[in-house]
Parts: sequence; structure tokens; C-alpha cells
Amino acid sequence: MKIGIIGAMDVEVAGLIESMENIKKEEISSVVYYEGKLQGKDVIVAKCGIGKVHAAVCAQTMILKYSPDVIINTGVAGSLNSNLNIADLVISNKVVQHDFDTSGIGDPIGLISGINLIEIPCSPNIVEKIENAAKLIEKTNVFVGTIASGDQFICNMSKKEYIVEHFNALCAEMEGAAIGHVCYLNNVDFCIVRAISDKADGSAHMDFPSFVQIAAKKSTALINNFLKTV
Ligand code: ADE
Repeated sequence: MKIGIIGAMDVEVAGLIESMENIKKEEISSVVYYEGKLQGKDVIVAKCGIGKVHAAVCAQTMILKYSPDVIINTGVAGSLNSNLNIADLVISNKVVQHDFDTSGIGDPIGLISGINLIEIPCSPNIVEKIENAAKLIEKTNVFVGTIASGDQFICNMSKKEYIVEHFNALCAEMEGAAIGHVCYLNNVDFCIVRAISDKADGSAHMDFPSFVQIAAKKSTALINNFLKTV
């Protein structure tokens, strides 16, 4: 089994790349792909850059060039739920694009044209394996549910409430659903793993850089645990 791993920022993939063995590097369309072994498993790791277009370009290229059996998107996210605190883990069982809106021509908010879905489902088998791997991480709350993506850093209450009201999502980030969309089109299994770095309401801005480091370490630990079990 070959596992693709995508993060948007250096901090989200650096810990994984540092631990890889037999690395082969290749740059395509400004994204560097690191092929090699991690925890003894075949992996292909890439930093895609921030936002849905970067994420989609990276996922599609990874699929065409490296044929991963599954793609995991790892990183940090803003919490949309008062039960979720800094460094808690969220595992997606479905993803939505909260900024997809063709309601002006009669569609439900969030309906993704072409595939005719609001929620793109993740592979239950992968979700279960990742959830089991997450439970091995000490002193960490683990949530499974909807992850919402859009080309916006969510940092105010009205945006937060909009996403919760329409999508009932646990956290917001900027890439996962684009990767899910590409995987759905290509019939590739996928799942999103995120650790909470902020409350998505503008309240923790002073601490954001340090919370990102803490959160990214958590999602990296989860990926390593998952790889040991597959
Ligand atoms: N990634 C981490 N925090 C986020 C937020 N509040 N909104 C969007 N993406 C994020």
C-alpha cells in the first residue's frame, strides 16, 4: 500500500519528511514530492501550499504521477465547536466546501456542481484505522465528523456560525475538501487529519504561531501512529 500525505505549510510536513528514509525528490508545478519510506511504509509526501487550488493541483499530480492507494491530508484547523480545544484532533468522515455557493441559481448552499454532492464521504475503513491510531496518543481528545474547507481564514463569529449552521462542521481549514474532491473524481481513498490551532474567532491571534507548532506536532504524531498500523 502506498500512502500519499499532503500538508499545506512546512510546519505540517517537516516532521514527517525529517523522519523519512530513502528519499527521492521531484518538483512538479512548483510542488516538491518526497517519495520514500516512513515507519517502514511506502509514502509520498508533499507541501501543497495554502488554499483549495494549491491542494487540488497537488492531489491530482500525486495521483497521476505516484498512484497512491490513499491520500491523507494532515495539518491544523480552526475550531468551530466549543468542545474542541487547542491541540485536540479532528478526523474527517466527510468534507464540505463552505465557500461553494450556487444558491443564486437555485442550488442548496454548498452543493458541488458536477458531482452533485454537498458532503464528500471519506473511506470508512481509513477513518476507523486513523481513529484507532489517534486513541493511542495520550491526553488528547479525538473527534470524528465533518471538516469544512474554503479559501478563507475563519476568524470571526459570523463566518463561524454560517459554517456551523449550514454544514455542522467541527473545524475549518483551507485544503481538505479540495483534496477530497480530487480523490472522489479519481476514485482514491482519502481522509483529513487536523489538530486545532485556534478558535476561528480571532481570539487567539497572539498565540497562533506557537499553537500552530503544538497542533502540527499532534497531527504528525497521529500520521506516524497510523503508518505503524497499516
Ligand atoms: N487553519 C488553521 N486555522 C484556520 C482557520 N481559523 N480558518 C481556516 N484555516 C485554518
